[in-house]
Amino acid sequence: MKLPNVKNVKNWLNEGFKRNPGPWVKHSEVVANAAKIIAKEIDSLNSHTAYIMGLVHDIGRIAGLTQDRHTIDGYNFLKAKGYEELARICITHCFPNKDINSNIGEWDCSKKELYFIETYLVNCKYNDYDRLIQLCDCISMGDKYVLIEKRLIDVALRYNLKSKIPLGVPLLLKWQKYLEIKNYFENLIDNSIYNLLPNVVENTLGIKLK
Ligand SMILES: [Fe+2]
Repeated sequence: MKLPNVKNVKNWLNEGFKRNPGPWVKHSEVVANAAKIIAKEIDSLNSHTAYIMGLVHDIGRIAGLTQDRHTIDGYNFLKAKGYEELARICITHCFPNKDINSNIGEWDCSKKELYFIETYLVNCKYNDYDRLIQLCDCISMGDKYVLIEKRLIDVALRYNLKSKIPLGVPLLLKWQKYLEIKNYFENLIDNSIYNLLPNVVENTLGIKLK
């Protein structure tokens, strides 16, 4: 897969922060580092590729303050730069079970764009990079790593849950899929992912361990 170099990606992120300041840039680095650390434990994955994928997964936020349209914005951004294969991660990272109805944010894109995403997901065969970034996105909260369940609740509570009642089952199925992906990687590395990442217990419980 053709990859941009780290310097270029960091420039995009810096530019993105200028256009749309927010925690998403730091989050992208935190996701990238987790992806690199976990990928190092898996022979079939390249840790540098995983790192770049983590860095760019939310690059669609460069387009401004948006919700779910950051997926297609990121895809189009990377495609326009000549990285069409890499661009997949901007879409796949949000859909562990390929269900566009499972997203908690607003679909702030056009019907045509939504159809593109839906069709793209149907035709896309997920690989371990897709699954790894889905997982790392779900254990990275702010600039820290936390228990996956904490992050899932955090995302759910940040949106207006009252208006999301039809979301119930698709959202639970999405959570179930995230836990399956976590188990999948833990079986591959024969270890808990939390053993690889710093301070998960402290960050999750909000305590200092002696
Ligand atoms: Fe993310």
